[in-house]
Amino acid sequence: MKATDTHRLSWDEWDELNDPRPAESGFDRVVERALSRRGFLGGVIAFGSGAAVMGAGTLLSAPAAEAAASGGRFAFAPIQAQTDHTVHVPEGYNWQPVVKWGDPLFADAPAFDHATGGSAEGSDRIFGENTDGMELFEIGGHQVIAVNHETANPEVNLPQNTDGVPATAEDVAKLQNLQGVSVFEIAEGPDGWSVVVGSPFNRRITHRTPMRLSGPAAGHALLKTAADPEGVTVLGTLNNCGAGRTPWGTYLTCEENFNGYFGSTVAEQDLPDDFKRYGVDRESRYAYEKFDPRFDIATTPNEPRRHGYIVEIDPADAASVPVKRTALGRFKHENTAVTLAPDGRVVVYMGDDERGEFLYRYVSDGFYAPGVGTSRLLDDGRLYVARFDDDLTGEWVELTPEATGMSEAEIRIFTRMAASKVGATTMDRPEWVAVNPVAVEGYCALTNNKNRGKKPNEGGDPTPVNGPNPREANEYGQIVRWYPEDDDHGSDRFGWDLYVMAGNPTVHKDAYAGSKNVNAGNLFNSPDGMKFDTTGLLWIQTDGEDTNEGDFAGMGNNQMLAGDPATGQIERFMTGPLGAEVTGLTWSADRRTMFVGIQHPAAPFPDGTGKLPRSTVIAIKRNDNALVG
Ligand code: FEO
Ligand code: CA
Ligand code: CA
Repeated sequence: MKATDTHRLSWDEWDELNDPRPAESGFDRVVERALSRRGFLGGVIAFGSGAAVMGAGTLLSAPAAEAAASGGRFAFAPIQAQTDHTVHVPEGYNWQPVVKWGDPLFADAPAFDHATGGSAEGSDRIFGENTDGMELFEIGGHQVIAVNHETANPEVNLPQNTDGVPATAEDVAKLQNLQGVSVFEIAEGPDGWSVVVGSPFNRRITHRTPMRLSGPAAGHALLKTAADPEGVTVLGTLNNCGAGRTPWGTYLTCEENFNGYFGSTVAEQDLPDDFKRYGVDRESRYAYEKFDPRFDIATTPNEPRRHGYIVEIDPADAASVPVKRTALGRFKHENTAVTLAPDGRVVVYMGDDERGEFLYRYVSDGFYAPGVGTSRLLDDGRLYVARFDDDLTGEWVELTPEATGMSEAEIRIFTRMAASKVGATTMDRPEWVAVNPVAVEGYCALTNNKNRGKKPNEGGDPTPVNGPNPREANEYGQIVRWYPEDDDHGSDRFGWDLYVMAGNPTVHKDAYAGSKNVNAGNLFNSPDGMKFDTTGLLWIQTDGEDTNEGDFAGMGNNQMLAGDPATGQIERFMTGPLGAEVTGLTWSADRRTMFVGIQHPAAPFPDGTGKLPRSTVIAIKRNDNALVG
């Protein structure tokens, strides 16, 4: 595929085109029960309903209680779908850009150049491109944001090159520097929020930053290279998509479509089975392999196996070495939702965003308690994959050597293959997971599955329609919810239902109309980003079709909505500019500002006609400065 064909494709879309999955046919009526079981239609469930039924009031923190008291569950008037090149928020709210691709993080960084997208020199001293998952940390009175830069759009980063394809090692270095993670301090002044340029918290983590491998796979022969014969030190974190945070104040960045950075300088290069399963191919998206042998699978075949992990970063220490936590498995990690079991074990939910892949859970062996050491909590633990049964229950199936015939290290490196051996349920592209802070339940956005059965991929499982993935040609997506048995995220059993099936009731009368909490006033497709606020409202961000035509008529641009888990009600809060995906959400320490990511907008957002389109983190506030979550 030529780079021109990839113009403005999100990385997910690019990977979808290049790494298709298999499928089968059929329609499972389980969905009707799944939709009517609980939630927006009321009723009682088998597991885990206690905290949910208890209601938010008993569990709210003080700020959350103030927010609830100040405006109820939806403290905004829903807005209409939009098709223009800017951001819209409800009446009584305002927004402003905080940081844009190319903005300096350090005093010596160059100013942004709209003609070239910036030079290679200094490209690791600026805010990178394609903002994605983020978290804000309050550290000693400072507010520090960690933000992912999932990918780089070659045509805007290298506008002088044909199709934006790197032509030199310098071009490759520039793209490598513009991706990864930014960590920086922000502050609010009379003119709003801005970066504290040169703060000691500020750092860039790129495709070239040294980091440490830890956990069961560290040091394994499959992770050794000529440059790292011990298999414990790796350069760079790749395709940082969603994120998460730990109770001990670290940032978790998630490596998603790492496969697309690797290629071969040998046309007839053989591909082992794991490369096929993970989509590592002879062709890459950025031609890194032509200028950086580390990305050439002909010369460094183990390098791809050193990526696809969750990476822990300490935002309080700009000199700290990021750690790739292999215990959490290797797949196309979307994001993480970290919570605690009642006994203090750390529970991490994780999705693998590809058609026909799975939903995972990690449970630590040790217990989290403030003041007790946390360094092993993401190294020593058990990894599970979800099986959803048609009786609306399910099980977290542990990936053990006995069940998979693989070693502990192999399970962590070839996690997809391990999961296939234990009967996990294939899903319609698991994007973000989220855990409700006021009820014991988890959510996963299954964004869509537009190509079920059309493009088989070697090594994956068949993908028939099944309970949580009930539609054959799923162009709209759905959100599945699970209720851990005994209100314990450490339980191996759960009940489940569908919180919402997106659809278009103005076009369809069948399952493609969506569930009953979808109506002409809140149309959306392809739920992707998802996060709860402290009041228990679920914020839903979309990354889908923004043609506003045909099956997508009335949906407009990508957007952010708020959902009430108890009633099922979903209302549109924000719309993004044309071409953009809305992804990434966090709050200021005082919860009076929400920060939202605008990724890969079309020009002229936000700088106006004739300027390059720039991924941007925006701040949204209420005009009366009341709480926003
Ligand atoms: Fe990077 Fe699956 O979104
Ligand atoms: Ca996503
Ligand atoms: Ca997506």
